[in-house]
Amino acid sequence: MKKSEALILAIESSCDDTSVAVLKGFEVLSNVIFSQDIHSYYGGVVPEMASRAHIESIVPTIKASLKTSNIKLNQVEAIAVTQGPGLLGSLLVGHSIAKSLSLALSIPMINVHHIEGHMLSCFLTEKNIQQNSSLDFPYLCLTVSGGHTQIVIVHNWDKFEIIGQTLDDAVGEAFDKAARLLSLGYPGGPLIDKNAKTGNPNRFIFSKTKTNGLNFSYSGIKTNILQLMQKEKKNNPKTLSSELNDWCASIQKSLVEPLVLNIEQAIKQTGIRQLAIAGGVSANSHLRHLIQKLGIKQNIQIYLPPLSYTMDNAAMIGAVGQFSLLNGVSDSICSSADARLISDKWVVKESNTI
Ligand code: KG4
Ligand code: ZN
Repeated sequence: MKKSEALILAIESSCDDTSVAVLKGFEVLSNVIFSQDIHSYYGGVVPEMASRAHIESIVPTIKASLKTSNIKLNQVEAIAVTQGPGLLGSLLVGHSIAKSLSLALSIPMINVHHIEGHMLSCFLTEKNIQQNSSLDFPYLCLTVSGGHTQIVIVHNWDKFEIIGQTLDDAVGEAFDKAARLLSLGYPGGPLIDKNAKTGNPNRFIFSKTKTNGLNFSYSGIKTNILQLMQKEKKNNPKTLSSELNDWCASIQKSLVEPLVLNIEQAIKQTGIRQLAIAGGVSANSHLRHLIQKLGIKQNIQIYLPPLSYTMDNAAMIGAVGQFSLLNGVSDSICSSADARLISDKWVVKESNTI
């Protein structure tokens, strides 16, 4: 891989985390994340509140990131920013300030697709921290977040081939819906993960949804979980609280296992022997354990992101910014944030078109 030493300031504001990072090349000098807790009270992200909170936190987060990295604003050589997809009001806050900085400092601005950031986060390095693996193109990436569930061949920084994807809900969405049924807070994924640790994953069995090829389906699981809960409540009205950990472990198992089965199939089909996981759900301890086991069983190289890179963060946006700069790609400040951004760098394998 070519080397870049450029100093980039990166901004991510696509949902409910305000994050600003400073990178020198692919080395992360700072990665400040301000998480908005207010949404847990409402059981989900309230878009209007998210954009207002971004407006309040964006300048302090930029200042904190520069201070932590010991870099002055006038040393920054380029701005990378999430253009989409995400909540429009949230995206506009980060995108507008990126345009202002680019104009004021006369430096290039680079628009980044949020999910490409997740998929390229395996290239980030930190001083004095040993990377658990270093990948090179091409590698497989299992991208699992609140809005995406995909198996992708990352051919290069600008070529992503989707070989499997969800036909309906994303796995993170399924975690959040299941947590709501259990009256846990938001986001539900980490809470199910936490409670599952001491639960019996085989206590409740849910029916499996069949899909073609390497695709996934998660929309039926909510109804399935709800029906089993109603049935079990007839025997034990307090089952949801008295057996909470068993519910969490069983739900977690049923959501994570299809991911691992399909990724194992993808390794066989493609012959690619490097695998990264990315996105919010890649923080899941059961998924990480199974992927690690798969790596040993298949003798393939695995990249498990540090937890700070599994959640939404600006460092990953900076990684895409570095690849763009290295390849002479930057964007006009007349461009705009796009809530439904579709990347021209993605191709869907024909047999997997939905
Ligand atoms: O990538 P992300 O932070 O935001 C999006 O781009 O969507 O992913 C958020 C999702 C949420 O659905 C959240 O419940 C899930 O990631 N998540 C987890 C865990 N941590 C976050 N799901 C399962 N186990 C976790 N430990
Ligand atoms: Zn994300």
